Amino acid sequence: MTDSLARPVPDSFRQKANVDTETYERLYRQSLDDSDSFWAEQAERLVHWFTPWETVQSGSLAGGDARWFEGARLNVAYNCLDRHLESRGDQTALIWEAEADDEPARTFTYQELREAVCRLATALRGIGVKRGDRVCLYLPMIPEAVISMLACARMGAIHSVVFSGSSPDALRERIDDFDATVVITADQAMRYGRKVPVKANVDIACETLESVKRVVVVQRGGDEVNWQDGRDLWFHDLLQGASADSPVAEMEAEDPLFILYTSGATTTPKGVMHTCGGYLVYSALTHEVILDHHAGDVHWCIAELGWITGHTYTVYGPLANGGTTLLYEGALSARNPKRAWQIVEKHRVNTLYTTPTLIRTLMAQGDAHVTEHDRSSLRLLGSVGEPINPEAWSWFHRVVGEERCPVVDTWWQTETGGIMLSPLPAAESIKPGASARPFFGIDVALLDEQGAIVTGEGSGRLVINRSWPGQMRTVYGDHDRFVSTYLTEFPGHYASGDAAQRDGEGEYRITGHVDDRLLVEGVSLETSDIENALTADPRIAEAAVVSCTRDNGSQGVYAWVTPMLGEPTDEELADALKARVLNGLGAVAVPDVIQWAPALPRTRSGKILRRILKKIANGEIDDLGDTTTLADANVVDSLVESSRGN
Ligand code: PRX
Repeated sequence: MTDSLARPVPDSFRQKANVDTETYERLYRQSLDDSDSFWAEQAERLVHWFTPWETVQSGSLAGGDARWFEGARLNVAYNCLDRHLESRGDQTALIWEAEADDEPARTFTYQELREAVCRLATALRGIGVKRGDRVCLYLPMIPEAVISMLACARMGAIHSVVFSGSSPDALRERIDDFDATVVITADQAMRYGRKVPVKANVDIACETLESVKRVVVVQRGGDEVNWQDGRDLWFHDLLQGASADSPVAEMEAEDPLFILYTSGATTTPKGVMHTCGGYLVYSALTHEVILDHHAGDVHWCIAELGWITGHTYTVYGPLANGGTTLLYEGALSARNPKRAWQIVEKHRVNTLYTTPTLIRTLMAQGDAHVTEHDRSSLRLLGSVGEPINPEAWSWFHRVVGEERCPVVDTWWQTETGGIMLSPLPAAESIKPGASARPFFGIDVALLDEQGAIVTGEGSGRLVINRSWPGQMRTVYGDHDRFVSTYLTEFPGHYASGDAAQRDGEGEYRITGHVDDRLLVEGVSLETSDIENALTADPRIAEAAVVSCTRDNGSQGVYAWVTPMLGEPTDEELADALKARVLNGLGAVAVPDVIQWAPALPRTRSGKILRRILKKIANGEIDDLGDTTTLADANVVDSLVESSRGN
């Protein structure tokens, strides 16, 4: 990474930022050297506790039994709503925008959102939901999804949000794993301008499930749906007459708040379990420091609620901090290139947090859609979920943020609860895809393949050495799987599964999941390096690199490449791309095949499913494995089609 790519953070931002570099250094040291006092101070400042804790932390990461704020009692929904009523009851807590731009926005003040949550909590109690019960939320991105999450939290039920694009099989597998008694869904979801029959999917999923006693249905689309008397209830009927006077469950800090299934691209999904106290403290603090929350901010995290990013940075972090959070119903794609910027302009969005995939999608639509909308409200931009290539980062910084807004590329995982590595927004300058430092309390190390600690500049497996409040506590119903997946490979450390580089200044760059590395002619290559070389060509929107097996059995490089809209996909472009890789990375990295792809297969959270690309690249099209996590299954058919002939 050359310093010429570094972009200064303007003084105007730095002067108002919540945490400056000096304060970061001091607090980071305190967070490691005097961890209990650091977290006690933050927990007291950020969260309302009904009962104080006896110990700040106990157990250990390595032992798989870390506990935070034991003995303390709190309620997450109370913290996100009731606590703010006195100072900001009339402030907007939630803004919702539909996919269609002619449908009116819905807004809820803190007072209104609390009332809706209380009514639903009362109603859920009325149909027999008890503290500790599991409730499945299979809902589109509508306010009722946020209301349902908070209603569960208020009454002490454990929610599990399942992405509304998941297939009936994926839904069944998840409900079965955590024995939900109630499913909250909708008649339809709107995605890419189409209606998705989510209620019908629930009906199929529940055919063989005994645990589900009630299905609560939000009316979103209005089409007729099949109805099972005695089981199905309309959300609006259920709420009618339900009292807003709903008691708050005083939860133990270590009681579960939610279970969220990881996408399960390669194995059966894991129910990642997070608890009330530590998760809330960690969500609030990371949102305040890294997304630089200020009172009155409008924050838009463009992420599915069925992904941890939606939990932590659409719902729990912003609401715990008394912010205004924006929820967008649909999918942003080439169909509606202006929609994102209309919303930014209309609601004067201050902080915008999303994925490299979406940034690249929006970039491919050209600058005019962006620049014709007012973006002067934007103060900070963030990226999450996969490595961001310098071109996408620079476009986000230059075109969207007008070089005024720092771009924080944040690394974390479903399992970590919140951001773990990120540039400090108030740093003097930030480099694309790099500059990341550990967040408070995060004690990271790089290990070589033998498990030895890499010191100074170098690269290796990224591990965490001690517990932090936001860490997952277990895999629901399978603690051994938690230990074997994360704590066994490098005893004493949490194995993230990712690889990273550290530069001479102690700043990190994530190079991707370890499984994404290629071994070609004895040389270990990072797929992200080759992808970055390909997307450095301005005609290219996206690239994904996988290994392929050559005729002689050795490993080669197979590149799937999506050009910008309207660019010709010809030999000349393919040769230019190969030349770029040759010049940048050497002959060994030059793709054996450049395969044009109209779009790449992605999970709901925007991650490219390399596993599927690899299978297609190697001609294993009859055995693509589990495709239920795909955001759009049609993409695969078009790739299979385009790969024929290679
Ligand atoms: O491989 C890393 C990648 O996404 C993984 C976590 O996926 P998930 O649990 O779905 O995401 C949770 C919310 C972040 C990581 O193990 N990843 C995430 N952020 C980055 C990233 N890779 C590179 N750079 C990032 N900023």
